[in-house]
Amino acid sequence: MTAAIIDGKAFAADLRGRVGTLARAFEASAGRKAGLAVVLVGEDPASQVYVRSKGKSTLEAGMASFEHKLPAETPEADLLALVEQLNTDPAVDGILVQLPLPAHMNEAKVIAAINPDKDVDGFNVINVGRLATGLNGFVPCTPLGCIMLLKDRLGSLSGLDAVVIGRSNIVGKPMAQLLLAESCTVTIAHSRTKDLPEVVRRADIVVAAVGRPEMIKGDWIKPGATVIDVGINRVPGKVEGKTRLVGDVDFAGASEVAGAITPVPGGVGPMTIAVLLRNALVAAHRNAGIALAKDAI
Ligand code: GUN
Repeated sequence: MTAAIIDGKAFAADLRGRVGTLARAFEASAGRKAGLAVVLVGEDPASQVYVRSKGKSTLEAGMASFEHKLPAETPEADLLALVEQLNTDPAVDGILVQLPLPAHMNEAKVIAAINPDKDVDGFNVINVGRLATGLNGFVPCTPLGCIMLLKDRLGSLSGLDAVVIGRSNIVGKPMAQLLLAESCTVTIAHSRTKDLPEVVRRADIVVAAVGRPEMIKGDWIKPGATVIDVGINRVPGKVEGKTRLVGDVDFAGASEVAGAITPVPGGVGPMTIAVLLRNALVAAHRNAGIALAKDAI
């Protein structure tokens, strides 16, 4: 079997287009643009790339982008003061503090300071609790993007066996909650899981989010399963001095067995920013008291 390729890049482009249309309609009725603030502390090169890309996509979607770049040695109190200012700024609907933060800062404390109704990352414990209890809140962008791709591919996920490999707060845990909310039977596997290949072999849906290049092998995959690869790992390329991106799944092996699979790059990656814009648009409607149909986006 040769797996169908799940084209996250195309899906994300379509989602960004739909967000853009709704953002322009929002501006017409609210008399202001939806606004997203992104805070970057320090000069981490990967974070700089993400933040630049988020700002550009926000503007392209017809929203206002507020970028705040602080030096790495900024005292935590100054960052908390900025978050508080953004919390009360009526032009700001969504706030994202790019992680990781410098080592002298307490990430949990900073995330807890973000107004939960502007927490478009869905990292604040209030939103984590809302997700766990089935209340309306903000859901982390990458796992929500994975669910969108899965539902687009499979329709109902009800009753399917899902294995999530990885237990991070950003991907693994919220992913498991979302799959549970779709009535999957969910297993969370991680570095201490006994006989991981056997656990993965049970799964109709495999979500790999471990951050280990090509760790999940093709012969671990149940024939016909849907494989979502969240990993983005830079490894040495075939040409000396060059690098290439690979996922957490051995793509060549898995695509011989799976029913469908996301590639790296071009699978889950592009979904994260598209869902961030979606979350910011939802926040704007809530903050302005303007209705947005439940299935509009
Ligand atoms: N760092 C890596 N991914 C993310 C993300 O989705 N949100 C934030 N705030 N930081 C990140």
